[in-house]
Amino acid sequence: MEVVIRQHEQQCGVTAADIIADAVACGATTLGLATGSSPLSVYRELIRRHRKGGLTFADVQAFLLDEYVGLPPGHPQSYAHVIRAEFTDHVGIASDRVHSPDGIAEDIFGAAQAYDALITDAGPIDVQLLGIGANGHIGFNEPGDELASRTHRVKLADSTRRDNAGLFAGDISKVPREALSMGMGTILKAATVILIATGERKAQCVEQMVHGAVTPRLPASFLQLHRDVELYLDHSAASRLSPRSRP
Ligand code: GLP
Repeated sequence: MEVVIRQHEQQCGVTAADIIADAVACGATTLGLATGSSPLSVYRELIRRHRKGGLTFADVQAFLLDEYVGLPPGHPQSYAHVIRAEFTDHVGIASDRVHSPDGIAEDIFGAAQAYDALITDAGPIDVQLLGIGANGHIGFNEPGDELASRTHRVKLADSTRRDNAGLFAGDISKVPREALSMGMGTILKAATVILIATGERKAQCVEQMVHGAVTPRLPASFLQLHRDVELYLDHSAASRLSPRSRP
């Protein structure tokens, strides 16, 4: 894992945006995108460069990591809606080139399989952008006794639902109990993985991700198995890393 530490969240975003912009300029056509607050600085910077001119996403297809089960795509907190509002609509990626698992399919199992097949057909994903949950989840791969490799239905951890309740007017009862998520196997097939983590709350899971054992108890630890993972951290998120792993 390559660790890049910056003073502020915004600087993490700018540095990570360099990698994505270079990849797209060099012909990358498939991007894996994450929601949550962590990637926002990356999206802001990519939007800025697109508006300034010179950075086009005309050939790009985007694949979302995950989606809540039961929220229609127009719901303000459905990830399909969020990614358009925060990124893809602002850089000219047409909505039919922005893909996400179908959280309102009658056949959720079939929808998960269909999503993996779509990624396999278009992929491999050139650059996969990730955040990390405070409990070490990636996408919605929650800690447990075992991990699913491919896109699958997930029961959300109570802590994750609490963490996300702020986006549902602070009402945890409004946070869906389930989601569809790419599996760690799907994620690890990406050519390059970029993870952004900022703030003290992420320091412990970042430490375990980098220094701990590879275990389904901390899904992010599986990123140790990938040969091109870049971690963009601010000083707070990196505060528990051993000096040896710091650049
Ligand atoms: C959600 C998303 C994850 C994201 C995580 C952390 O659970 N499904 O993809 O990484 O939240 O969010 P944040 O970046 O806001 O801390």
